[in-house]
Amino acid sequence: MAARAFCLMALFVVALGFHHFMEGAVAAENMAGRSTRRRRQARNLLRRLNKAPLASIQSPDGDIIDCVHISKQPAFDHPFLKNHTIQMRPSYHPGGLDLNPNIALHPIAQTWHQNGQCPENTIPILRTKEEDVLRASSVRRYGKKRPRSIPNLVSSVDDPATPNVLIGHQHAVASTWQGQYYGTSTVINLWEPTLERPNDFSLAQLWITGGSYAGNDLNTIEAGWQVSQSMYGDKNARLFIYWTSDAYQKTGCYNLCPGFVQTNNQIAIGGSISPVSTYGGSQHDISILIWKDPQGGNWWLKVGGSILGYWPSSIFSYLADNASVIMWGGEVYSPDAGQTSTQMGSGHFPEEGFGKASYIKNIQVVDSSNNLKSPNGVGLTTEQPNCYNVQNGTNSDWGTYIYYGGPGKNPNCP
Ligand SMILES: *[C@@H]1O[C@H](CO)[C@@H](O)[C@H](O)[C@H]1NC(C)=O
Ligand SMILES: *[C@@H]1O[C@H](CO)[C@@H](O)[C@H](O)[C@H]1NC(C)=O
Ligand SMILES: *[C@@H]1O[C@H](CO)[C@@H](O)[C@H](O)[C@H]1NC(C)=O
Repeated sequence: MAARAFCLMALFVVALGFHHFMEGAVAAENMAGRSTRRRRQARNLLRRLNKAPLASIQSPDGDIIDCVHISKQPAFDHPFLKNHTIQMRPSYHPGGLDLNPNIALHPIAQTWHQNGQCPENTIPILRTKEEDVLRASSVRRYGKKRPRSIPNLVSSVDDPATPNVLIGHQHAVASTWQGQYYGTSTVINLWEPTLERPNDFSLAQLWITGGSYAGNDLNTIEAGWQVSQSMYGDKNARLFIYWTSDAYQKTGCYNLCPGFVQTNNQIAIGGSISPVSTYGGSQHDISILIWKDPQGGNWWLKVGGSILGYWPSSIFSYLADNASVIMWGGEVYSPDAGQTSTQMGSGHFPEEGFGKASYIKNIQVVDSSNNLKSPNGVGLTTEQPNCYNVQNGTNSDWGTYIYYGGPGKNPNCP
């Protein structure tokens, strides 16, 4: 996107250099035409994205939360969900109640809660503003991840010489791939990493995947928190979800978008979450559980104590059956060339440990008997361990856990 803008600028400059003033003026007019076209495309997209609300809540952080009737949500714009009957609750919950007493079951706190709540039979949706869409590289790509924005498990910490094939994307993750999985549960430490450049982002998340890049049929279900000024217009940590069924090509999108069916009227996906952890101070986290309902096969999402909704089985291919790889960790993306000092997690390396490094703990998978259990070992992957790194551990309180993150650019990086 930056590349395309740069190309246009370069063309513009070349046009001015090679031709006369009149031709330069024509080029300028084309650019003005382009920006008018972009605005028109943006407004068309907004008309599709933003559904007519029954009530709206102005959040102190500048967000507007629209309370939209549950049957009018964007999920049903998905071509496969035209006749979908909403499932209001899952038929099954792994382990009955949550097995681990350390997992916080209180609902997560969102900034907009200070100014109201959504009525029954509606769901809270973060309103997309025109400026949000115009910040994207192209209106078409708004709210979509780039292809290849997933850790390449081939380049691992065991083999740091492996070239970084994901230019711009850096990960520090743990993963497991020794079976067929039906979900995962984990507790993710909450931070607000600083971004060096306005188009950078930083996140912590889990990935539930099936299929492969090679086949262009990678299916993913993703959830976590992210800081992305280009997407949200601020530097707050926000709850996000994502899915794709074709390796991020034509399908997939962030948050409430065609696909994910929300059933909960309290949590706005894409909304800010607070409080966040402080270095050497108090630590905050969110628990996330995703599991496949044995009846009907939908993938349910629970954050804190709240069941938020589900990804219908019918939007997937591989994940209509089961997942083959699950990953947990952090990612930093910087579209510009060169190493960025955008932080991952707390911005500190795993060695610093609790209160300083960021953690993901109580990592569990849902096995083929629909039970939660620790994964049989995890693999670790990072492209440049001197920039961002990851370490694993196990103990009785935290089960399987990782510390991950780093400062990015520093004397040893790159
Ligand atoms: C929805 O229902 C109509 C009428 O029964 C049917 O023709 C159509 O194929 C269905 N669409 C989907 C996506 O199931
Ligand atoms: C798991 O999913 C794969 C890919 O869709 C499928 O081939 C396999 O039969 C599934 N296994 C079970 C036990 O459903
Ligand atoms: C980290 O994971 C590896 C591979 O699963 C395992 O052998 C090792 O024991 C783990 N380390 C700790 C401290 O749990």
